[in-house]
Amino acid sequence: FDTVDVIRAKRDGGELSDEQIAWMVSSYTGGRVAEEQMSALLMAIFLQGMTDREIERWTDAMIDSGERMSLAFDKPTTDKHSTGGVGDKITLPLAPLVAACGAIVPQLSGRGLGHTGGTLDKLESIPGWQASISSAAYRAQLEDVGAVICAAGDNLAPADKKLYALRDVTGTVDSIPLIASSIMSKKIAEGADALTLDVKVGSGAFMTDLPSARRLAETMVRLGSAHGVHTAALLTDMDSPLGRSAGNALEVTESVDVLAGGGPADVVELTLTLARQMLIAVGIDTDPADVLSGGKAMDTWKAMIRAQGGDPDARLPVARHTREILAPADGVLTRLDAYAVGIAAWRLGAGRARKEDPVSATAGVTWACGVGESVRAGTPLLRLHGDDETKFDRALEALEGAYEVGSAPSTRHGRSRVIDT
Ligand code: URA
Repeated sequence: FDTVDVIRAKRDGGELSDEQIAWMVSSYTGGRVAEEQMSALLMAIFLQGMTDREIERWTDAMIDSGERMSLAFDKPTTDKHSTGGVGDKITLPLAPLVAACGAIVPQLSGRGLGHTGGTLDKLESIPGWQASISSAAYRAQLEDVGAVICAAGDNLAPADKKLYALRDVTGTVDSIPLIASSIMSKKIAEGADALTLDVKVGSGAFMTDLPSARRLAETMVRLGSAHGVHTAALLTDMDSPLGRSAGNALEVTESVDVLAGGGPADVVELTLTLARQMLIAVGIDTDPADVLSGGKAMDTWKAMIRAQGGDPDARLPVARHTREILAPADGVLTRLDAYAVGIAAWRLGAGRARKEDPVSATAGVTWACGVGESVRAGTPLLRLHGDDETKFDRALEALEGAYEVGSAPSTRHGRSRVIDT
C-alpha cells in the first residue's frame, strides 16, 4: 500500500479496507510508517470517524501487535476498567474484594496523565510496593492471592503505547473510535473471561455528555463481545469527584478505610455495584457486601500488597504543608466540580504533565463532605496537601468557583453514582 493513499482515503471520508488497516498499524508499530504520517491519519480518523467494521479491525491490528495472553486457571477471571476520573480509587478496594469472593482478578493498570489519577501512582505511595513484576510472578500471585494490580508488560498491545503517546501530542485523544480501540485492545489481549467497564461521564471525565459516553460504552461492549469476552458497561457520574480525596497516598488511605468497613458512602456503593457486576459476569453469586464486612477483602488486600514487596501496615507519607478553604455560609454543598479538583491536585504535584514526570505521593486535595451534605460557615470545606508550598496559590486558583453552598443540591446526577447500565 501507499501510506499517502490511505491517509487521503480517510481524509476524504472513505472507509479503509481490512488489509489497509492491518498494514498501517503493523507498519507503524514496526517503524515503517513515519510519525508525521500516522499523525495525519489519526487526525483524519478524529475528524471523519470510523465505521464499526473499521473500529473492529483497528482493534484487532492493535491486539496482533503483541501477545494475547491466556489465563487458564480453575477459577473464572474477571476484570474492571474505568475510563478515568478524579478521586477514582475504586480499583484498590475492588480487586481484592472480588478475589475474596472467589474470582481471579488480573488488573493491568496505568498511570495518571493530566488531571486524572492513575492506579499505579497511588499504590506506589505504599513503601516498597513494585508496579512491575515478571510474568511468572504475575501468574503465581493470581494463583495464590487471586488479585494482581500491576503495570502491563511491553508485549501487551505495543501499538497502543506508540499510538497513545502520539495522540497525546497531536490533539487526537478524545475520539471514540481511538479511545475504544486503545482500551479494548489491551483488555482483550490481557485474556480475562469477563470485563466490566465503568464509563465516566461529567466534567472530570473524557466524555462530558451522556450521549457520547453511551456511544463509547456501546462501542467497547461490542468490541469485547466480538472477541468472546463477556463485557458489560456502567455509565457513572463524574461531575463531582469520588469519595473525599484526590491524590496518591490520600486515596490509598481512603481505600483502606473502605476495606476496613468504613470509608465514604459513594466509594463503598460504587465498589459493591462493580463487584456484583464482575461476579455476575462469571456466574459467582456471593454477596460482596458480606465479604467486605467479614474482613476477607482486607486480608486479600494485605496479601496482594505484600506479594509485590509492599508493607500494608507501613505509615503512608503525609504532606508537610496543608491549607484550608473555609465554607462561605451555612447550608448544603450543592456543587463540587470534579475537573477543578483534579486540576488542583495535579498542580499540587499529584499528577504529571508528561509521561516521564515524577509524581508526589503526598500531594492532593481532600474535602470534608460530599454534594448534598450540610456545611457550617467558617468550618474547613476543602484542604490542600503538598510538600511544596509555592504550588498552593495556583491550586487555589483552580478551585475558584468550583464549589457552591446553597439550600438544595443542583448537580445533574446528585449522589446517585450509577446513571445507567
Ligand atoms: N485510556 C486508554 O487506555 N486509552 C485511551 O485512549 C483513553 C483512556
